[in-house]
This record gives sequence, C-alpha cells and structure tokens, in this order.
Amino acid sequence: MTANLAIPELAAAVERPVAEAAGLPNRAYTSSEFFRLELERIYAPSWACLGHAADVPRPGDLRPVHLLGVPLLMVRTASGTVRVFHNVCSHRGNELVWEPGRVKGGIRCPYHAWTYDLEGRLIGTPNIGGFGVHEADGFDRARHGLRAVRSGMWLDLVFVNLTGDAEPFETWIRPLAERFEGFGGPGYEGRLQPAATHGEFRFDVKANWKLAVENNLDASHLPWVHPALNRQSPLEDHYCFLDSPRFAGQGSTAYDTVPHESPALPRIEAWPARTGEYPCLYPNAFVSGHGDHFWSMVLEPVAPDRTIERWRSYFVDEAAEDAGFESARSAIRERWASILGEDVGVVEGMQRGRRSPAFDGGVFAPVLDPPVHHFHRWVARRLAAPETDRATA
Ligand code: FES
Ligand SMILES: [Fe+2]
Repeated sequence: MTANLAIPELAAAVERPVAEAAGLPNRAYTSSEFFRLELERIYAPSWACLGHAADVPRPGDLRPVHLLGVPLLMVRTASGTVRVFHNVCSHRGNELVWEPGRVKGGIRCPYHAWTYDLEGRLIGTPNIGGFGVHEADGFDRARHGLRAVRSGMWLDLVFVNLTGDAEPFETWIRPLAERFEGFGGPGYEGRLQPAATHGEFRFDVKANWKLAVENNLDASHLPWVHPALNRQSPLEDHYCFLDSPRFAGQGSTAYDTVPHESPALPRIEAWPARTGEYPCLYPNAFVSGHGDHFWSMVLEPVAPDRTIERWRSYFVDEAAEDAGFESARSAIRERWASILGEDVGVVEGMQRGRRSPAFDGGVFAPVLDPPVHHFHRWVARRLAAPETDRATA
C-alpha cells in the first residue's frame, strides 16, 4: 500500500532546505490511503487533540468524537475528571454513543442494552443468561468494560494517545505550556474559564486538515485575505517562532483589545497588553493567547477533503462570567468568527488546487514560508520514520 504513496521520495523532497524543498504532493491531500496512513503514523502514536473539556461540562455528560474515523467517547465522570474511551460496545461492537448527551444511571448500548458506568465498568448485561437472567456462568463483567484511551489535558483541551506508548503527556506539552507561562506567569491557566455565553462556533471545511494547519502558520496572506485585521495588526508587527519540533506559530505585538461597550475585561496581569500569540500544536490544535481572552480551535479530520473546526473562547476569572460582559463576549466571538471565516475560502481553494495535474507540492517562499515548511517536515518525518521512532520523529 505505502509503495504507491512513495513516502521515502516525498520525505526526501520535503527535507531539503526551504528554498529548494518541495511541498507535500497532491496525494497527501486527496488520497484515502494517505489519510489512513496518517492515522497510523501521525495521529495514533502522538498526542492528538480530541476536543474541549468544556464540551462535557457536568458529570454524566458524554460526547462521541471521531479521530480520523476511530470512534471515541469523551466522558465527564462523577468526580469531575474527563476520561476518554473507545466508543464501542464490548458485546457485538455497536458504536455505543451516537449523539452528545447526558446520562444519570449509566451508558446504555442501543442494541441489547448492555450498560457501563462513567468509569467504563460493565454494570448491566440484560438477559445474558437467558430471558430474565442477567448473569451467565463463566462470564466476568470485569473483563468486558470499555477500553480506556490514554488522555491528557491542557488549557481545557483534551489530548489522546491511541497507541498508549507516546512520551508522558506532561513532558510532551511542557515546551508550549512554558511558552505561555512566560507571558502569563505561573498559575494563569487555572484562572481561565470557558465563556459563559457566545463561546463557540464551528466550520465544516471542504479541505484536508493539513491545509487548515498550513494556513494558520502562514502570516503572509494577512494583507490579502484579512485586510481589516491587517490594518489593526499589520504583517510587519508579526513574528514567528519555529524553535520547538512540535509546534510553530506567529505572534503580534500590535494586538488591540476588541472594541465593545462593557467595562474592561478581567486580565492576566502579567500578559503584555499588546501581545497576541497564535501557536499551532501539531497535529491538530490551534491556540491563541491574549491578556483578556484565549481561544482554541480543534481540527477534526473527517475525510481527506473534509475537516470540522471547533472553536471555543475562554476568559479570565469567574468575574468575566458577569452579564455585564455579554457584549464583550459577543464582540470577541464575532471578530474571530469573521477572521477565521475569511480563511475558509482560501483553504478550500487550496484543496481544489490539489486536483490539478499542473501542481504537485509547489515551492516555499524562503523568507515567509519557513513555518509551513516546518510543518511539512514534521509530517514527512513521521510518515517516513520506522515504527519504533514515530512518536518522537
Ligand atoms: S452490541 Fe451493545 S449490547 Fe449488544
Ligand atoms: Fe488567515
């Protein structure tokens, strides 16, 4: 299978210095085999982002999510922690939960009503021993609970490692967590609260997930795709950072508070007033930090040519939940929905361009495209690495 995808050739072409390198070829964006290979070599062995913990705010809340086709389930347990399980019933393999929702007693399979508690233990097996008999000789419920997935959380984002053998989550996230701590000071993260209102939106984008990442790393489209933003926070006030192997991004030193009618929002005092930071944590999480609000966007790759993007915003301290900040929350959501919505057109245009026989990877602009090249290298190295090295390639 992988012979057709010519992974070693692709990796060699991407690996060259930026001015000579080729971008990932069209098949990386259009082929179902390539998409399956990305699950096996990129998403499963690393820490991939599954969603926001705020999507399951109360004990008993459930949210089914697909990670490149793999059915998973986010659960808020009775003790308030978020756990992730494979979303499949141990009996005959029905997908267990089909819609987001909330349960009281347990999670019941729609097929034959086997039931699991919020910790994944199998607690009900109706009629397993014959009509009206709910136990069976030799059947040990303790051995047939839901299969847990290794997970970790940072800034309300839930990450999973499907293979179970990636480095510890805390080690993996540390460089980015420290970068943000450098702005916000220790403990800033504990002050962030999901927006009380106007806190989310989503886009259903007809494009490969990598094009969304590349666009997020590309500052040079700013004057052309976001003219209003560029007037307020011009390209020349942007800087990029590429020093970590697992994230890259851009920042602005001309960030300006979103205009709104209410009093000033509570702030992380240490965060520089005009700094906005926008890292992309590979493979699929965008994070954004400002003194008075944060947001993150999770990419859910659905198919080679389809990605769902889920955005959520966060504010500082419970004081920001006050009704007096309604217009601020709304203005911030509107601003980002507008800016990120402007990107959808070019990202989908990039996908359509990958059907052209006249293009097969393109070239990088040597001064402004190194962040995109950085990401292509990250992808190519993981695809080409031997199995034992994939988690750290
Ligand atoms: S498949 Fe779930 S109870 Fe039978
Ligand atoms: Fe953009």
